Amino acid sequence: MIKNFYDGKDQLQRDEAIRSASLASMTLMLAAHNRGWATVPMIGFDPNAVSKLLNLQPNYIPVMLMAVGFRKEAPRPRDYRRPIEEVVKINTLDGSGLKG
Ligand SMILES: Cc1cc2nc3c(=O)[nH]c(=O)nc-3n(C[C@H](O)[C@H](O)[C@H](O)COP(=O)(O)O)c2cc1C
Repeated sequence: MIKNFYDGKDQLQRDEAIRSASLASMTLMLAAHNRGWATVPMIGFDPNAVSKLLNLQPNYIPVMLMAVGFRKEAPRPRDYRRPIEEVVKINTLDGSGLKG
């Protein structure tokens, strides 16, 4: 079933890789945070150079890099965080927002 679903569909395969890597990245960030480590996701890199450096097979794509380490100082306070009712909508994008 999986083979039929993905076979010959390059865009779908790539989209799925990005989705999976994004979920894995967030999980890694949360797990690291839970252990007192800081993380920095990065997309500002040359994917071909990274693939070459790590000797990645063609069916692997470097979606993002993640620095993990100990924070030297407290993060600067956020200037602004969108309220949850602006970010999470019920049923449609212009529907009512979830109350925080
Ligand atoms: C998907 C994603 C990709 C990012 N790529 C880069 C990057 O290539 N270079 C960079 O300096 N910051 C990048 N950032 C931002 C840093 O991860 C980090 O959020 C930023 O340095 C500010 O840190 P702070 O939010 O803890 O203040 C990216 C953030 C996200 C979510």
